Amino acid sequence: MCGIIGYIGSRKASEVLTEGLKRLEYRGYDSVGIAVLNDKKLEIRKDVGMIEDVSTTLQFTNIEGNIGIGHSRWATHGVVCKENAHPHFNTRKTIVAVHNGVIENFTKLKNDLIEKGHEFTTDTDSELIPHLVEENAKSQSLLKAFMKSVRQLEGSYAIVALSTEDKEERIFLARKNSPLVIGVGKGEMFCASDIPAMLKYTKTFVPLQEGDLAVLTKHGYKVYSVDGSETTRKQITVDWNIEMAQKCGYPHFMLKEIFDQKHFINESLAADVDSAKSIIDEYEKIDIIACGTSYHAGLLLSYLLSEKGKISQAFIASDYPFIAKPNEKTLIIAISQSGETADVLQALRYAEKSRKIAITNTVGSTITRISDSIIYLNTGPEVGVAATKTFTAQLAVIYKLIYGKKKLAELPKLIELMLKLENQIKKIAVKLAGKEHAFFIARGKNVPIAYEGSLKFKEITYIHSEAYPGGELKHGTLSLITDGVPLIALAPKDDTIPKLFGNIKEAKARGAMIVGLTNDEDVKKESNFVIELPEIDPILYPFALIIPLQLLAYHVSVLKGINPDRPRNLAKSVTVE
Ligand code: G6P
Repeated sequence: MCGIIGYIGSRKASEVLTEGLKRLEYRGYDSVGIAVLNDKKLEIRKDVGMIEDVSTTLQFTNIEGNIGIGHSRWATHGVVCKENAHPHFNTRKTIVAVHNGVIENFTKLKNDLIEKGHEFTTDTDSELIPHLVEENAKSQSLLKAFMKSVRQLEGSYAIVALSTEDKEERIFLARKNSPLVIGVGKGEMFCASDIPAMLKYTKTFVPLQEGDLAVLTKHGYKVYSVDGSETTRKQITVDWNIEMAQKCGYPHFMLKEIFDQKHFINESLAADVDSAKSIIDEYEKIDIIACGTSYHAGLLLSYLLSEKGKISQAFIASDYPFIAKPNEKTLIIAISQSGETADVLQALRYAEKSRKIAITNTVGSTITRISDSIIYLNTGPEVGVAATKTFTAQLAVIYKLIYGKKKLAELPKLIELMLKLENQIKKIAVKLAGKEHAFFIARGKNVPIAYEGSLKFKEITYIHSEAYPGGELKHGTLSLITDGVPLIALAPKDDTIPKLFGNIKEAKARGAMIVGLTNDEDVKKESNFVIELPEIDPILYPFALIIPLQLLAYHVSVLKGINPDRPRNLAKSVTVE
């Protein structure tokens, strides 16, 4: 997590950095700062708060200079306060650095530096980087000192640094287990944690690989391997445009991305799944690994694969190494919209003997380099912290993989139809905004959608929410169902309805306020509020269900005065374990 940006060229660096940080804020947003080099002096401004506020109060864009670095923080080491915000610098303020990740051996390195006379002013692990580079530069060139410093670090990092004492004008980069991408311009170079931060200026990028170091000048870049030897990395061109990373008139990215689904669904359905499909055919045992929203897509995939006769299970990636023993006979399918989630990457590395398929939205991401076959979601960048369009896109490619595209011909129309329910959903949101708890139930293949609906709901409304297969209610949760407690029932007319209807009645008898997502007349009668589902091929119900649940979470969040794009304590791309 944390967003990093760097610029070197002829533009006003402070403007490029401020603009870039706005695009990166989804990665972390408890504090923000920039450092710009002007006339051999560093101007550093940083504080607690969101980029929009801090950059205005501290007048970021008043700073002159054409080289700079910036950072948007998601705290790991040290509380959220001005001092702990990045950029960090050495005592003489000659070297400045921003860092994303966790330096595991920082106590030892910091103590060594203190013994050598370095003074620290923050609680962060990151502050040691400029001190370490300064120390190493006493006996060698700045580039060599930077390389040596990076080799001394254990843990995960994306680092961007520069020095006032550099005879050439350069920005130094390093990455290990945290993403960092170079943006290639004409007479200017960029770097950032993620592509959208640089889209306004270039469409050509060089994703750095694990252990890479790099140097940017105004005119180009050089990439080095860990041992210091120069190496080459592939340039990629993306066809994303800047509008995709802007709100385009919507009040929030989340709402824009929910509505984006009607445009992008065709792109996702065009995804190339052939190679993955033939690999799947070769295996009997398939483990799926993912986190958060992607895990819910993985769960549904495991049900569909089991239905096809495979032995398949979905695992929460962070737990995978504790419970699974993958070998050459196990196929791994990893699902990650960012392709950078640390928990997923460590699970993939753990499964070293197994063949791997990745499902991701991010060209050039780490997951694409450690997998044997890749399915891209093709759904454009997702900025809102709560995943929406990428979840639907994951379902779309999974369905294409299992059922083939023909079965999905009605999908674009279905999505449009469900989006039209927004006004009706807004009215239901009013009834939910004052509640303290909410429960979601479903059965069978609709259960992963209940999990996802509940996750969406809790993460952006701060209302406690849980989801269960309907049959589980009576094994404990029913004791929490009292007068007016919302029960959101995913009850399409499919094979799950007879049993789910019984669960709805049990909850109703105890006073629950039933919100029925249904096209079944009996369920409608039991429901206090109905979100009407169309009559469709039953395999498509998960798509019909998720869109109203995304809209419901969004509108409750807005009614409660929460910014759904930036829920507290969360970040979109979680690059720490
Ligand atoms: C974070 C995000 C979630 C996301 C999860 C997995 O927790 O806030 O929205 O589902 O990471 O991310 P991935 O990029 O691996 O799908």
